[in-house]
Amino acid sequence: MINNDQAEALRNLVRNNAMMQNEGLATRIVTVTSGKGGVGKSNFSLNFSLALQQLGKKVLIFDADIGMANIDVLMGVSSPYNLYHLLKQEKTIWDIIQEGPHGVHFIAGGSGFKDLVDLSQAQLDYFGDQIGRLHGQYDVIIFDTGAGLSKETIKFITAAQETIIVTTPEPTSITDAYALIKMVTAMEHDVNFKLIVNRATDVKEGKATADKMALVAQRFLDLELPVLGYLLDDPNVPKAVKRQVPFSIAFPGSVASRSIMDIAKQFADVPDASQAASSGVKGFLHKMFRLSK
Ligand SMILES: Nc1ncnc2c1ncn2[C@@H]1O[C@H](COP(=O)(O)OP(=O)(O)O)[C@@H](O)[C@H]1O
Ligand SMILES: [Mg+2]
Repeated sequence: MINNDQAEALRNLVRNNAMMQNEGLATRIVTVTSGKGGVGKSNFSLNFSLALQQLGKKVLIFDADIGMANIDVLMGVSSPYNLYHLLKQEKTIWDIIQEGPHGVHFIAGGSGFKDLVDLSQAQLDYFGDQIGRLHGQYDVIIFDTGAGLSKETIKFITAAQETIIVTTPEPTSITDAYALIKMVTAMEHDVNFKLIVNRATDVKEGKATADKMALVAQRFLDLELPVLGYLLDDPNVPKAVKRQVPFSIAFPGSVASRSIMDIAKQFADVPDASQAASSGVKGFLHKMFRLSK
């Protein structure tokens, strides 16, 4: 738990950010997650970010899967510094932000590190302070998390304004996604979930998967689970992964690329309706550190 001095320092930080609110962009903070691993979160996060950036948004993609570098590998861009160096207080937030294709900004997760499960309070404070500096700098910040419910992932999900949950039509992926939603909603009521069905054989299968999940969420959790979009299984995706070029750049005319652009357009057109929508980085930090209002 944070002590009083630390809480006061964080409160001041949040207040200062509030004063800056009108000077910068109102950032939409999105966490991308899944129950089961390997369902396409990182490919989605990256290509979704690139599509939003192409639509004129300023986007930061944040690889929140520490120890398992993904985003930089998928882009074929190496990053000298990453999240690890930030958490270790060795680098500032600006030192670890890199530029990728289309001018998208990214923070790499780094590889070969053990999970930093227990950060010291000083490390957490530094992290919060540094993240606070992102306030007003981006239209969208996307956190790509690891699969399943680690302590860190729960924080990112509950602190973000919008959580995109990725599933495939496979029953194991669906049940794991549902289990994750159930656990998260038991802890935090106002999580704003949206569903992406990835690797569907056709739109019909994608729709059937989304309908099934929405029905179960409604009936058993009393939860709205709107679908953000469907991505078909596309052989160009693994091809692009092997080339270390994002699929939307390697194969812009592919089915997956066209779908991701449609999804990005829809996302950009329909602003987040949640109460936290205008709170951006400030609201995110507030929830991350559980400050009382
Ligand atoms: N729409 C798709 N069509 C075909 N293959 C896909 C698709 N999406 C993801 N994949 C494959 O699944 C693998 C895992 O994707 P990844 O984005 O790394 O998943 P996660 O981040 O959830 O672990 C990728 O290497 C890719 O080849
Ligand atoms: Mg991943």
